[in-house]
Amino acid sequence: MTVIVRDLHSDAIADIEGFVRVRHAALPYMYFSPESVRHHLSLTPARARYRALVAEEDGEIIGTAQVGLAHESPEPGQGWLNVYVDPARTGRGAGTLLMRTAEEHLAAHGATHLYAWVLDEPGYRAFAERHGYRASRSAHFLVLDLAHTELPPLQNPPAGVELRTAADFADDPRPLFALDAEAGSDEPSDIDTELTDYDAWVAEYWKHPHLDLELTSVAVADGRPIAFSLAHTNGVGRYGTGMTGTARAFRGRGLAKLVKNDSLHRARAVGYTEAYTGNDSDNGPMLAINKWFGYEIRATEVRHVRELG
Ligand SMILES: CC(C)(COP(=O)(O)OP(=O)(O)OC[C@H]1O[C@@H](n2cnc3c(N)ncnc32)[C@H](O)[C@@H]1OP(=O)(O)O)[C@@H](O)C(=O)NCCC(=O)NCCS
Repeated sequence: MTVIVRDLHSDAIADIEGFVRVRHAALPYMYFSPESVRHHLSLTPARARYRALVAEEDGEIIGTAQVGLAHESPEPGQGWLNVYVDPARTGRGAGTLLMRTAEEHLAAHGATHLYAWVLDEPGYRAFAERHGYRASRSAHFLVLDLAHTELPPLQNPPAGVELRTAADFADDPRPLFALDAEAGSDEPSDIDTELTDYDAWVAEYWKHPHLDLELTSVAVADGRPIAFSLAHTNGVGRYGTGMTGTARAFRGRGLAKLVKNDSLHRARAVGYTEAYTGNDSDNGPMLAINKWFGYEIRATEVRHVRELG
């Protein structure tokens, strides 16, 4: 039985469903749907050199990789690859083949540093080390049992601040773009991000198939958004936070707690039962906020980096 690696075919529903199935089996904390897989494939700009790969054995998809250049980073030469193999089908060479194919692609397009997320388990970490990667920073996946956990009581916004939803910005989301860009550039990470292209942001984030405009809460002062908590939902119980951010000048006043609490209460009221989020392990403020809500750390991934000589 031979394992082969090839590009995912975006018009083949069996490919898309296989990709989603493997990703959920390997890492249930990140949510993919056929729509989100197609969304990514359809819009990534050519300079990102994005590819979605699948490993196939006897016609069945047993592994996946997403690979590309970090085109939103001000520093060139940063490549990323994330390889996940179905835990029931490891040991068949799929991971090695996916990794090699991804690395060759990135090297051919000028990447000098390759970043890969690796689950913090001895077998996975040893696999990365054997392939020349060294451990860098880590991040946690957190889950809140919305159905059974009491949320902090709803708070009133401070004087001069109003709570709105992202749907109120449907006609002109540009102020939310500015806030997302400001907050995102302060999020701890080993690849810096600079969101400068409004149209690309609209296409990728504002039109993301999981974005829930109604459940995304926004704090507004003097007509300008100053804090937001972005909701991704699947329509049937699963709610995730895509991002929480507060404008620099307004941090430390409880606004992130305010918007996220508002969004969580409203999500629960319309039937969402599980809330997911992810945080860099050095993000003290956001981890403190999520602990306050009752989120629990369920898994940790360690970013690994390989420098190409
Ligand atoms: C993280 C962020 C959203 C927090 O916004 P904020 O409006 O300042 O948050 P709040 O004021 O509601 O709450 C901050 C809490 O963190 C605590 N805190 C602040 N710095 C901390 C640190 N270094 N370690 C631990 N806790 C810390 C505060 O004490 C406060 O808790 P308290 O109310 O119990 O005192 C904001 O810093 C931000 O936009 N950062 C950049 C984007 C980002 O990293 N977003 C999260 C991505 S997952």
